[in-house]
Amino acid sequence: RARFLSAAAGNAVSVNADRLNRTIHETCRWGEAHRFGPDPTETGMCRLALTDSDAEARRWFVDEMKAQGCKVSVDQMGNIFAVRKGRKEGAPTAMGSHLDTQPSGGRYDGILGIISGVEAVRTLNEHNIETEYPVAVVNWTNEEGARFPQSVVSSSVYAGSTPLADAWALADIADASKTMKSELERIGFLGSVPCSFDANPIAAHFELHIEQGPILEKAKAKVGVVTGGQGYRWYDVQVSGRAAHSGSTPFYSRSDALLCAARIIAKSNEIAKEHRALATTGILTLEPGSTNVIPSSVRFTLDVRHPDIKPDTLDAVERDLIDATFEIALKESELGCDVNWKRTSVANAVQFPPAGVECVKEAGVAVVGEKKVLEIVSGAGHDSCAVSYRCPTSMVFVPSKDGLSHNPREYTSPEDCAIGAQVLLNAVLAYDRR
Ligand code: GLV
Ligand code: MN
Ligand code: MN
Ligand code: MN
Repeated sequence: RARFLSAAAGNAVSVNADRLNRTIHETCRWGEAHRFGPDPTETGMCRLALTDSDAEARRWFVDEMKAQGCKVSVDQMGNIFAVRKGRKEGAPTAMGSHLDTQPSGGRYDGILGIISGVEAVRTLNEHNIETEYPVAVVNWTNEEGARFPQSVVSSSVYAGSTPLADAWALADIADASKTMKSELERIGFLGSVPCSFDANPIAAHFELHIEQGPILEKAKAKVGVVTGGQGYRWYDVQVSGRAAHSGSTPFYSRSDALLCAARIIAKSNEIAKEHRALATTGILTLEPGSTNVIPSSVRFTLDVRHPDIKPDTLDAVERDLIDATFEIALKESELGCDVNWKRTSVANAVQFPPAGVECVKEAGVAVVGEKKVLEIVSGAGHDSCAVSYRCPTSMVFVPSKDGLSHNPREYTSPEDCAIGAQVLLNAVLAYDRR
């Protein structure tokens, strides 16, 4: 095979690496935050879903796709579909990812996948390439779950695994008066197209994303062919104790909610290790929050992950965690605490269908050669995982410097971003000629 798969006319179609990287950093002006150096690109991002900065990035995306001749539509979850016509009618081959970021996110997580879709369309236009079927670039709403606490929520509604009403009702973790629906309305992205694969299907879904972990870098690989994603469950844990004076209350008559929570969190790491799983507490709040008052109430989150395709391991971790928790709550804080567990979301591990994986593999090998391609299971959740139940799906990973992500210093080199975009385009063209 040629280095870059040739299109119908026999022209090599190479993405424009400079234009791609320029666009990545230009669009970071919406939500730039956490500056750590003097170079204009030395910031991270805070572009939480459905905030004003997300709205600005969305409007840019809509305008740019229209300028490229795409037909743009918005569905009931604010997912944006920009479709470029093909020779035949039919469901488009989609390149999807997300524009939202973590509160202390980096410049690549999410938007790289969107911008490389934009670059793919620009490249096809520039070379006058007509695909057999339409191609689309898709922005999925609130992938991160950082503001509205369910990740990949809008692709899950689309795939039929989360009810629309539940997603609309998700409240901003910082302000319960704002819901996904009210914020979609406020920023003008509550669309009328049904958020449903059946009503608005795609033929396949490809996504370029940074790896967000150390595996490719360690293996000196350039392209990860993603074969699936690990499963995860999120929990909300509420611990109730008793507020009391820190100076006059001896240990034997305390009911310290924070001490209890701390022990549960430490135990969750031990249990996860026993099962070769991961456990993380990312949010913790306590009351009343005064130096000389024993905490009466603590709320924390728990994110537990495992790549097993069967949910058995996550079931076992959950069982052990709950058992251990009640033991700790009864005994360890002298007077005991009450603990209330709530499982808030579930994403099962997925295996991507071979039809999508094959295209990415073929494209990766054509661009960087077999030795620099590695098959990999995603540690993070992605919209691709949610839609993989409905259509051929796969992802392209590119290396993350020091394996770092969900951090302002997240970095992927311009060369690697361009390689990823090229592989994405080639995978789409390979699928198009199926
Ligand atoms: C979603 O991005 C997740 O992995 O939490
Ligand atoms: Mn992401
Ligand atoms: Mn992320
Ligand atoms: Mn993610």
